[in-house]
Amino acid sequence: MKECLVSPSMLAADFANIQRDVEMLNSSEADYIHIDIMDGVFVPNISFGFPVTEAIARHAKKPLDFHLMVKDATPYLEACRDSGAEIITVHYEACTHLHRTIMAIHELGAKAGVALNPHTPVAVLEEIIDHIDLALIMSVNPGFGGQKFIPHTFAKVEKLAAMAEKTNPDLLIEIDGGVTSENARELVQKGANMLVAGSFVFKSENPQDTIHSLKRV
Ligand code: DX5
Ligand code: ZN
Repeated sequence: MKECLVSPSMLAADFANIQRDVEMLNSSEADYIHIDIMDGVFVPNISFGFPVTEAIARHAKKPLDFHLMVKDATPYLEACRDSGAEIITVHYEACTHLHRTIMAIHELGAKAGVALNPHTPVAVLEEIIDHIDLALIMSVNPGFGGQKFIPHTFAKVEKLAAMAEKTNPDLLIEIDGGVTSENARELVQKGANMLVAGSFVFKSENPQDTIHSLKRV
């Protein structure tokens, strides 16, 4: 049995009962609360904006893990931090000046993450890996919850874990999309140490038990 961090995604919460769902996570073993921000341009969907994330932050007792699926992250970074983000993750595919964006996140006092779409090789992180706190491997195409896990993710996690071991052994390796008890164990065995789970947590009969078991795969 290996322990890992779990970051349930609010995208799968009941938006008519946000306070109830955040309080459920507060009294669970969740380590973070994952917040998906979409702009309808980088991904073909829109989730929620900062009035909603501020409402989540007002009730949350767990640190917030922001995942920005937007074409231009720069104008949103300060609002994320003001909304209580402890981690801000931007997409490699959306950042022309990734190093500058990472520095801007650090200047705000947050941890910086870089997310990779399923087709993006982990090797692109080689020159930035020791400047970041987290790498997020998308195990579905970003934009929607409830999609099927892409098995090629296992190989990417293994490669990234080997890269991290050499230059940044404290790197958080977060997996996002279609995570369930079926794939969690292999993900953690291959080197993942942080799992996002939306539907698998919120659609389960007892979300707190589900979080408990995901932490010990
Ligand atoms: C998808 C988001 C995910 C999503 C995961 O683009 O980045 O965080 O909420 O949802 P599940 O776990 O249902 O695939
Ligand atoms: Zn996400």
